[in-house]
Amino acid sequence: MNRVFSGIQPTGNLHLGNYLGAIRNWVAMQADYDCIYCIVDLHAITMPHDPRALAQATRDMAAAVLAAGIDPAKTILFHQSAVTAHAELAWTLMSIARTGWLDRMVQFKEKRGKDAEGPSVGLYTYPVLQAADILAYRATHVPVGADQKQHLELARDIAVKFNTAYGEVLTPPQPVIGAAAARVMSLRDGSAKMSKSDPSAASRIDLTDEADTIAQKIKRAKSDADVLPDSPAGLEGRPEARNLVGIYAALTGTTIESVLAEWGGKGFGAFKPALADVTVAALAPIVAEYARLRADPGQIDAVLRDGAARAGAIAAPLLQEVYDAVGFLR
Ligand code: TRP
Repeated sequence: MNRVFSGIQPTGNLHLGNYLGAIRNWVAMQADYDCIYCIVDLHAITMPHDPRALAQATRDMAAAVLAAGIDPAKTILFHQSAVTAHAELAWTLMSIARTGWLDRMVQFKEKRGKDAEGPSVGLYTYPVLQAADILAYRATHVPVGADQKQHLELARDIAVKFNTAYGEVLTPPQPVIGAAAARVMSLRDGSAKMSKSDPSAASRIDLTDEADTIAQKIKRAKSDADVLPDSPAGLEGRPEARNLVGIYAALTGTTIESVLAEWGGKGFGAFKPALADVTVAALAPIVAEYARLRADPGQIDAVLRDGAARAGAIAAPLLQEVYDAVGFLR
């Protein structure tokens, strides 16, 4: 049986980049797999965070995922701290993973410099918790962005080492590196990622933006004076053009090639209104449902609670097998 597991941090202030980067892909995978999706609040505290904002950020992420089309009747959606097996399995796996393996993790090296106090131990062991997330459900497929490939290889290494030491209990997962995941850049600077922390609201399309705000932001997005090229090679050195064409392709479910086959030779004066229409058409229903759900936190919490109960029922027997395998007294 194929089972998908993936996790996303509760970042808050959600925008088009979050939607096209991961959430949309999660929605699509529901058609072909049993899916378990987790809002990873345990991971979120490994960097300095605001405790007054975390619960709301967790709800907002759940609302965004639901608004985008996750069906909670079929797919399990929950927050990590509500299922104790994650932390319990992570502790056990910390005695399997070697410090030398963690020393090689690129994301740790990137993130540790951002904390003036020095990195937390939790940030260092972050990938072990991520391995526990996946292994607790015997997930076979894990959709992630390219930046998570190293963490998935670590999860495989941990599973294999555990099985070699204690018997075949864990299932090494396969990464599904999101080919479909579009990397959405700032509307003001095509070389910077679209980010919730950019001080300019014009740099991103927020999931709280009304239709006319969305259209305006697209029409005022930075571009250049050239016409669009007729093939992707012509986007070289034109990061803003590449970004806008990429957004168009992602939202219409086509490739950059076919967008350029249609739009090559035309200027931004024609392209931007078309992109604005496409963006509004794709986002308006999500924005509306996101607003509706955020106004009804009780509904979100009920979905998460139900998801946590279903997730816990899958993870508990696996954790017991792990505990038996390592020799804990029952
Ligand atoms: N580390 C992942 C990220 O930053 C989030 C994550 C946590 C995750 N646990 C996971 C992804 C398990 C896939 C599977 O994007």
